[in-house]
Amino acid sequence: MKLTKTLTAAVFALGAALSAQAAEPLKIGLVLPMTGPFAAYGKQIEHGVKLYLERNGDTVAGRKVELIVKDDAPGTAGDVSKRLAQELVVKDNVDILAGFCLTPSAFAVAPLATEAKKPMIIMNAATSAITTKSNYIVRTSMTLPQITAPIATWAAKNGIKKVFTVVADYGPGHDAEGQFKKTFLAAGGEITGEVRVPVRNPDFAPYLQKVKDTKPDAVFIFVPAGEAGIGFMKGFQERGLAQAGIKVIATGDLLDEEVLDAIGDPALGVISSFHYSEAHKSPENLAYVAAYTKAYPKDRPNFMSAGGYDGMHLIAEVLKKTGGDASGDKFIEAAKGMKWTSPRGPVSIDPATRDIVQTVYIRKVTKVGGKLQNVEFDQVNEFKDPGKQ
Ligand code: PHB
Repeated sequence: MKLTKTLTAAVFALGAALSAQAAEPLKIGLVLPMTGPFAAYGKQIEHGVKLYLERNGDTVAGRKVELIVKDDAPGTAGDVSKRLAQELVVKDNVDILAGFCLTPSAFAVAPLATEAKKPMIIMNAATSAITTKSNYIVRTSMTLPQITAPIATWAAKNGIKKVFTVVADYGPGHDAEGQFKKTFLAAGGEITGEVRVPVRNPDFAPYLQKVKDTKPDAVFIFVPAGEAGIGFMKGFQERGLAQAGIKVIATGDLLDEEVLDAIGDPALGVISSFHYSEAHKSPENLAYVAAYTKAYPKDRPNFMSAGGYDGMHLIAEVLKKTGGDASGDKFIEAAKGMKWTSPRGPVSIDPATRDIVQTVYIRKVTKVGGKLQNVEFDQVNEFKDPGKQ
């Protein structure tokens, strides 16, 4: 009897050891612009994903994580992203598709996630409707309506009565414009004019003159983070809009830590709403910023790196729940309702929409220790994407 028990235990132990050994690597295909005009996005997201693995170990539920990065530069060409995602599924046999910085790339790959039943983790692309395009999508970044409504409310409550809106002419810009108008008009505000500018290399000069002529209290702007924002702030100074008493209000994309230093002092005092700031005061963010800065001393952590970090957190925690099973239906069921404390604050996955529910902060650009930072001074807690309501 004793011998049988010992033998059984030995057989079980051997089986467990063999199955752990035989556990397939967890292949994650990252579709990111690594070169071209949006290369900074890909870099930041890849940093975030890698930092998570560095801090938490690169084996989840017994499966070693293998990252395969495909450069979908310029990031705005859906057909490029789709071809690369197809390669990841068919040739590399990835378990999970992740990354997706710009809206066109997420829209183009969504039908493939459905067809292949692969979880698709959106780490930046922020047009509200993206998560409705496949039941296999989960998003760990934000949506434009979610980060826009709070600044519209703040503006209306803080003496800003007339606003001119300037947005990039594609999904997230349309979402930002729509939500800003909806919230601001409902709060009694007035829109003096609106323009949509090209996504890449917009020349703001003609638009800025138009803005100035309508004499608004403020301009609300959304452009994809990066060069466009630097160009807007430069034109705003050069054309004397600040001197004319016009304020800038924005989503935090304009003032992302990656470009804040390039904008320089003209950014001082600008108010925005957003879900992540390097200056967010929490023990989790302090530790995150320290680890990030140690790993990537040339870069400042921003919302994209947070999207990548939290996306990898979600994958790891889901796999723990499913015992290492990354199949689409099981993965998505386990992801719904998941809650954790991110460097950005408390977050959860809305089981109804698979979008992230999070705190959106109101921030003011301030010099902290000689460095420009988005210092948070107000917040809206557990804020869901209003674009779905
Ligand atoms: C998007 O394309 O969805 C996007 C890109 C950059 C941002 C925000 C949204 O800063």
